[in-house]
Amino acid sequence: MLDYRTMDSSALQAEQGRLRQAYDAFAKRGLKLDMSRGKPAPNQLDLSMGLLAMQDYKDRDGVDMRNYGALEGAAEVREFFAELLGAQPGETIVGGSSSLNLMYNMVDLGWRKGFSGCAPWGAQDKVKFLCPSPGYDRHFRISEDFGFELITVPMTPGGPDMDAVERLAQDEAVKGIWCIPVYSNPDGYVYSAETVRRMAEMKAAPDFRVFWDNAYLVHHLTDEALSCPNMLEACRDAGNPQRAMMFCSTSKMTFAGAGVCAMAADAANIEAAKNYLFAMTICFDKVNQLRHVRFLRKEGLAAHMQKHAALIAPKFDAVREAFERELAPCGDIACWTSPKGGYFISLNVLDGCAARVVQLCREAGVVLTGAGAAFPYGQDPRDRHIRIAPSYPSAGELAAAAELLCLSVRLAAVEKLLA
Ligand SMILES: Cc1ncc(COP(=O)(O)O)c(C=O)c1O
Repeated sequence: MLDYRTMDSSALQAEQGRLRQAYDAFAKRGLKLDMSRGKPAPNQLDLSMGLLAMQDYKDRDGVDMRNYGALEGAAEVREFFAELLGAQPGETIVGGSSSLNLMYNMVDLGWRKGFSGCAPWGAQDKVKFLCPSPGYDRHFRISEDFGFELITVPMTPGGPDMDAVERLAQDEAVKGIWCIPVYSNPDGYVYSAETVRRMAEMKAAPDFRVFWDNAYLVHHLTDEALSCPNMLEACRDAGNPQRAMMFCSTSKMTFAGAGVCAMAADAANIEAAKNYLFAMTICFDKVNQLRHVRFLRKEGLAAHMQKHAALIAPKFDAVREAFERELAPCGDIACWTSPKGGYFISLNVLDGCAARVVQLCREAGVVLTGAGAAFPYGQDPRDRHIRIAPSYPSAGELAAAAELLCLSVRLAAVEKLLA
């Protein structure tokens, strides 16, 4: 194979003909695959079937979890999630099945009641949120839903570009930042200690909040368990104890959409959150909370997550190998991340080609996340980023999808270079 950049137009045209033939043959295979979301595969969900057999309903103090009560979660459940998030049980609230739901609630709390004695965000002239990008589309969607102005901040392998974050946070209208500190969605990056320190220490509005979504904190793909410093502690050390709101859930430990979520923050935020939730509900599903904690303690969380890794790491490897085999020899038409955990790989293709690649894949039967989805307002300014979610397809399906993806990346690149 040749470096596309060094090929003249007749060589590129010949390559286009070859690629088109291979692509058309692929399209005839009638593949039908949806890789648009990072979902656990059925065999991963099977790992937690033991949950459904559990009949536990009394916590260790004999409190009946089948009944109303304990809005903030049963004591033993709070302890489990506090340890996971790196907080005290009293600083932890265990919620329903979705951490995204809880994040939405906390943005709504800022909107309707305000934080740190400041006017509610909804009563302020303008609210802006920092969106490290590429990032998680559903974070951006929450802030968009409230009518905030979304500000793109570039991601680096050590987290968001902190020079930009520090500069932007000086604006009093900037009220929050979305962070996925460990195995970020979609790059798979882990925030550095310096990023954490600078974000905790920087000058920002008193009601500025760091939405610290630790969705992938134990979702390692290798034996190297990467981690990042605790944002709540860093904010406390920096004299900004109310700045951090940390979240996690078991969605990708047990059942996605039927797990348990939790948040941790300093006492003032927890009090405000409890008041907010009190108006909304009597309590969350404590039967599910209890069986989750008992199940994950029995299994051993690390051992349970290793079983997940054994199923999905080979899928990440297969995608990476396909990229190295099919794309690397073509020169600089694509680059990709090599995450050591999480659920995604970022693939960057030639500027102006991502939407075309997604279209080519869709027309041949593989649905990818829409191009631009990982950027505020769904718009990738360079139209080059594609989020790859390898977890759900079977190994065979994934091999076919990766082959089609590589063909599409090459075809789109040749089209671009010939245009
Ligand atoms: C970074 C991140 N946060 C949150 C979620 C959703 O979590 P939950 O199921 O707890 O709402 C996802 C799901 O893909 C995610 O990638």
